[in-house]
This record gives sequence, C-alpha cells and structure tokens, in this order.
Amino acid sequence: MTTTLITGGTVVSATGRGKADVLIDDETIVAVLQPGSELLGTDVAASVDRVIDATGKYVIPGGIDAHTHMQLPFGGTSASDTFETGTRAAAWGGTTTIIDFAVQTYGGDVFEGLGKWHDLAAGNCAIDYGFHQIIGGIDEASLAAMPKLIDEGISSFKLFMAYPGVFYSDDAQILRAMQVSRDTGLLTMMHAENGPAIDVLAAQLVEQGKTDPFYHGIARAWQMEEEATHRAIMLANLTGAPLYVVHVSAKQAVKQLAWARDKGQNVFGETCPQYLYLSLEEQLGAKSDEWGAFEGAKWVCSTPIRSREDGHQDYMWQALRTNDLQMVSTDHCPFCMKDQKELGLGDFRKIPNGIGSVEHRMDLMYQGVVTGKLTLERWVELTSTTPARMFGLYGRKGVIQPGADGDVVIYDPNGHTSIGVNNTHHMNMDHSAWEGYEIDGHVDTVLSRGKVIVDGGQYLGSKGDGRYLKRGLSQYLT
Ligand code: URP
Ligand code: ZN
Ligand code: ZN
Ligand code: ZN
Repeated sequence: MTTTLITGGTVVSATGRGKADVLIDDETIVAVLQPGSELLGTDVAASVDRVIDATGKYVIPGGIDAHTHMQLPFGGTSASDTFETGTRAAAWGGTTTIIDFAVQTYGGDVFEGLGKWHDLAAGNCAIDYGFHQIIGGIDEASLAAMPKLIDEGISSFKLFMAYPGVFYSDDAQILRAMQVSRDTGLLTMMHAENGPAIDVLAAQLVEQGKTDPFYHGIARAWQMEEEATHRAIMLANLTGAPLYVVHVSAKQAVKQLAWARDKGQNVFGETCPQYLYLSLEEQLGAKSDEWGAFEGAKWVCSTPIRSREDGHQDYMWQALRTNDLQMVSTDHCPFCMKDQKELGLGDFRKIPNGIGSVEHRMDLMYQGVVTGKLTLERWVELTSTTPARMFGLYGRKGVIQPGADGDVVIYDPNGHTSIGVNNTHHMNMDHSAWEGYEIDGHVDTVLSRGKVIVDGGQYLGSKGDGRYLKRGLSQYLT
C-alpha cells in the first residue's frame, strides 16, 4: 500500500480549476484538499510515503481514449500495436484508459469474438481497458447475444455502413440492431459512410489508373459521409436508439448531428486528431523521395482526412467548442509502411486503413488550449470526462474526486514535446503520422490507479498493470 500526495498543482476538471493537493491511498483518490485545508490529522495523511511536487503544472484526470484497435485484423494484416505496445504508448502520452473494439463478423459467435479480445488483452496492458463490441455480422444469433453483453461490462456496439463484405451492415440489419439498442440501452456506435457507393467510385478510379493513396480521399467523398450520417440518424429516430457516430470528419456530417441534437435526439459525435490537423492535400497527396506518391499511405484511414480548401478542419475545432461534437478519440489503428501499408502499392483499396495516434491525443488536443480554441476545462472534458460519461465509467474514471481511481496526469504547460522525430514515439510503427509536430506542453508524470507508471522520461510500469473495466450503461443520455 502506497500513499501519494500530489502537491502544489492546479487541478483541472471539466467544470473548473483551482490549486489543490490530491491524496491517493493505494489505488484510490481519497481527498482533494484546497489550500489551507487541514491535511494532518487524517489517518492517511500521517502516513504519506510519496510526495509529488506539481507546482506550476496541471493535475488532470488520466486521458480516456474510447476508440482504439489494437491488433485489429484488416486487409490481410493486423494493426501493428499489440495490447502491450499500444497501451504502453498510451501511458507515455497521458492516457490511462482505452476502450478497444472486440470483433464479431459474419457467421461468427459474439462471445467467441469477445473471448478472443479478452485473451489478447489480459495480462498485457499497461493501463485499464474496456471493450465495445463490433457486430460485423447481424443475424438471429448475434441479435440474441447483444443484450447479454451488458452483463459482460459492454454497453456499446459498433456497426459499419462501410466495408461491404467485411464488417458491413445493410439498413435492415441496422434497423434490427437499433431496436435492440432501444430496448436495452446499449449505445449504437456507427461508422457512417456509404460503403457500397464508395466501392463503385473506388473501382472506377482504379480503372482510370488513379491508384495512389490520394484517391482514397476522392473515392470516400464527403457526400458519402453526410448521407450515411443522415440515414443513421433517421434509423435511430425511428427506432429510438441512442446513436454515437465515430470518427466524424466532414463538416456536412457535423451539421447533420447538430440538426438531430437540436431536435432533442440522443445523437452524439466523436472526431479524432487527424481530422483536426491533417488534410487531403498535404498528407494524402504527399510525395517523398523514399515512397514517391505512395507516401500518402501513412494517412489512409476511413473516414478520410479531408480537403483543407473546404475548411473541414476548422469546422471540427469549432464543433468541439459548440458541443456539436462531444469528444475526441484517436481511432488508433496503426500499420507499418513496410509489409503492411505497402500491400496497397498500385491499388489504394488494398492499403490497410488506419493511423496511429494513441500516444499523442492529449498533447495534440492541448494545442487547442495553447491556440485559444479550447479552455483547459474543455480539454479535460473532451479527452477524459465525456468519454467516461459516454461509456459508463464516470465516477471511477474521468474525474479527480474522492472515490475515483488514482488515474492522474501531471501536465507541464511550460514543457515541450517533439513528436515522432526519428521515431522517438513508443507505438509499434516504422513511421509517425505526426512526424515533426512540435507541442507546447509535456506529459511529466502518469499515475494509473495510484501507481506511477511514467515519470521523468522513464516508463516505470509493467505489463499486466492494466485491468479489464466492466462498464455500465452510458451516463450521457437524456
Ligand atoms: O481507418 C480506420 N478507421 N481503421 C479502423 C477501422 C475503423 O473503421 O474504425
Ligand atoms: Zn470505423
Ligand atoms: Zn475505428
Ligand atoms: Zn516536463
């Protein structure tokens, strides 16, 4: 049993900030002490055995990345981060909880898919982890299994309107799954892109010899995202299912979400750092000496990064301010260039989809504070508090208060972080999608359930520190 006192810092929550000391007894926060409060006299305070000086720094609840894909099989290969490497990289970047996606596909058993994900993660994680369930094959058996997920601590499932032949669900299937969502309170998560239409456009581009990664972004046009988002909203409206749209990248899709929310529908949206920073022109269209026009493969993900000319990136930042979008996850799904992204040389359709960002989300979003787009409180809300509430973890995670897990990050606003330079990141990738990004701010110390796992540029945790989190139903629905 270790008792830790974090002194002198500014504690930031979703609703305010102030100087306070944080007392953690073993794994749990036991007190948040305002200046002048009588610390001595409590039994725990008398036996503090570690004091961390956070003077001049922010003390925030550990980040929660509610959208990761460790080891996801995709396009004939698997995401390059294991639960071990990916969660350790997350810890380096101030994220102390991930929610990953267990996978069920056509003809597969939901609980077998879930069991496989438990096997991959158990004993390997640096930080706590939960699961959503991908339902990639809706049939009588999977529909019957879905309500039982709640007992397993899984309160959300993801459907795909994209990727025909892989994870895709048609409207009839979506309708039936949403009826289960309505009846049980399970939150429907949606990959909203019109997959069948995209596949036609992509095939036509390849036939015309337009095979570079850039055309991935052309085939996956914003109309395909707006249309699917609208369709998902209407099916949710009809059934009464709560809906959370993942990785929103088109401003037109945000407008659909705002429209539905203004009508009072339980509809929410997440965006990701790549849609706030990166663009079709600069990244998907990039050319290097090493890779030529195939350089853009590093940034092939779905939904795609979009044109800066159309202003999608600025619109996403604005939507985070107005709460038209509620939170930021990474959709961390890394693939190396060598042997993985390379599968799509000569045909962008074969490039495995995904970007690795789990290590950088807290830093990248803090730049919103630095540039005056977000308040400190909104930063914490978007990256920790709302993810906790949205996915049934709040109270235990997402907040610094007595009774919560001792998941705390000490963030130095005067520090500096150079991302990805010479592969100094900790994700299992042979490149960085964020090479050269310079961050004002630095993750100094990370505590996971009271244990210091990152400090002074060193990783101090061990494989297996992280535990499976049984989640409750969403605490965000009206
Ligand atoms: O490109 C992406 N997003 N890969 C991961 C799978 C998904 O659709 O989230
Ligand atoms: Zn998706
Ligand atoms: Zn994803
Ligand atoms: Zn520092």
